Amino acid sequence: MAIMKHVPTLFLLLSTLLLSISVESLPPPLFPDEALPTKSGYLPVKPAPGSSMFYTFYEAQKPTTPLPDTPLLVWLQGGPGCSSMIGNFYELGPWRVLSNATNLKPNPGAWNRLFGLLFLDNPIGTGFSIAASKQDIPRNQKQVAEHLYAALTEFIEQNPGFENRPVYITGESYAGKYVPAIGYYILKEKPNGKVNLMGLAIGNGLTDPVIQIRTHAVNAYYSGLVNAKQRESLEKAQETSVALAKAQKWREATEARTELLTLLRNMTGLATLYNTARMIPYRTDLVVDLMNLSEAKKVLGASETVRFEECSDDVDEALRGDIMKSVKYMVEYALERTDVLLYQGMLDLRDGVVSVEEWVKTMKWSGLGAFLKAERRVWKDGEGDLAGYVQRWGNLTQVAVSGAGHLVPTDKAVNSRDMIEGWVLGKGLFGGGGDVVKQTLSSSFLASS
Ligand SMILES: *[C@@H]1O[C@H](CO)[C@@H](O)[C@H](O)[C@H]1NC(C)=O
Ligand SMILES: *[C@@H]1O[C@H](CO)[C@@H](O)[C@H](O)[C@H]1NC(C)=O
Ligand SMILES: *[C@@H]1O[C@H](CO)[C@@H](O)[C@H](O)[C@H]1NC(C)=O
Ligand SMILES: *[C@@H]1O[C@H](CO)[C@@H](O)[C@H](O)[C@H]1NC(C)=O
Repeated sequence: MAIMKHVPTLFLLLSTLLLSISVESLPPPLFPDEALPTKSGYLPVKPAPGSSMFYTFYEAQKPTTPLPDTPLLVWLQGGPGCSSMIGNFYELGPWRVLSNATNLKPNPGAWNRLFGLLFLDNPIGTGFSIAASKQDIPRNQKQVAEHLYAALTEFIEQNPGFENRPVYITGESYAGKYVPAIGYYILKEKPNGKVNLMGLAIGNGLTDPVIQIRTHAVNAYYSGLVNAKQRESLEKAQETSVALAKAQKWREATEARTELLTLLRNMTGLATLYNTARMIPYRTDLVVDLMNLSEAKKVLGASETVRFEECSDDVDEALRGDIMKSVKYMVEYALERTDVLLYQGMLDLRDGVVSVEEWVKTMKWSGLGAFLKAERRVWKDGEGDLAGYVQRWGNLTQVAVSGAGHLVPTDKAVNSRDMIEGWVLGKGLFGGGGDVVKQTLSSSFLASS
């Protein structure tokens, strides 16, 4: 009897021991539980049957509003054809691989603290997204917008309680084309549709390329990076691209722009034009290494058969003729109807502050005069250190971010989060629109600070 009584205890002890041994000998999971997306997978893109957009979604960590009212940020990477998993795992997502592809670390400036955050591999053919055929990959911004709209409405329909969430479309670099394109499409074609669009935000964007590429020579010259003779060569290279664009030889104009940027890089000897302070290029290769692991594909719900590329050559090829085309008119249209944030890391030599200000001042927008006269205010971070400069009037906010290059959230995680939160909530320096809710929010913020 006594022996029988001890058998279960012994068994329990043994099995606990075995369990702890086997747990300890397993390598730690690549993705800790807290690092997993709330949801991820594929959204069918109905205009291109058989194609679908890959997404990862992270719900707000500490929402201050009921979820059905909590803003939803959508992030679009540039390229054309670069994966939003770069944004997710190297810039603004909740967990990142800044120095080691197999070691995810929490991001102190994750953009999903107060808001939901949706990363889309856009357009189809990018990252883990699937294009049924090369012919289905968009060749212009109208098609990009139609596909994005289909994916967004699908996402909202799949998730009960999402139908009224305020949506803010954000993105970087070549998304300076996508963000206005989807904004324009929603505001013009689907004003009563499923996407409750409340604002557009573009980081270091390419939006009005002809005007923007004309700033490289002066910008580099007055920054002391090239001499007067080199400045002339850069000006010549710029004009070659501009002349081709004016002649509507769009693909050739794009290739001439690539030449121009190579020349600028050669002259300056910089490790990367994306950030003049870096000694090595941004380590986006770490994301590629991470996405290449089958464990990553499995936990993210990505197709086992899609081979992940940081930037897709097929998408780049499909949009080659689109790159030099302007979408400034779409921003002008949006500004009359919604909030727009343009922010730039100041160390970027490709699509930096000067490059953006140059096209902004040529906009046909009723508020432009007042915006250009508005005070540019100094922005300090929580420690009282310089974080950048903010200028705003009416629906337009422009932010120059100190100490950051092209990938603002990588370089200045917490400041970038403060900026996006301030802008969405209409708080402090970043307050955007003139609607009543925002005024109430910002005056209570001012009163309490
Ligand atoms: C990356 O992180 C993992 C897990 O912490 C560690 O085992 C590995 O040695 C690191 N690799 C490098 C190159 O630092
Ligand atoms: C840039 O430098 C490389 C390597 O020296 C050279 O092959 C290339 O022709 C240069 N390109 C331009 C546009 O200056
Ligand atoms: C990782 O990359 C290698 C080399 O390109 C490729 O052969 C392999 O299929 C990739 N693995 C996954 C899981 O994507
Ligand atoms: C700014 O956007 C709001 C909608 O948020 C719109 O009603 C208003 O007309 C816009 N203001 C200007 C000056 O364009």
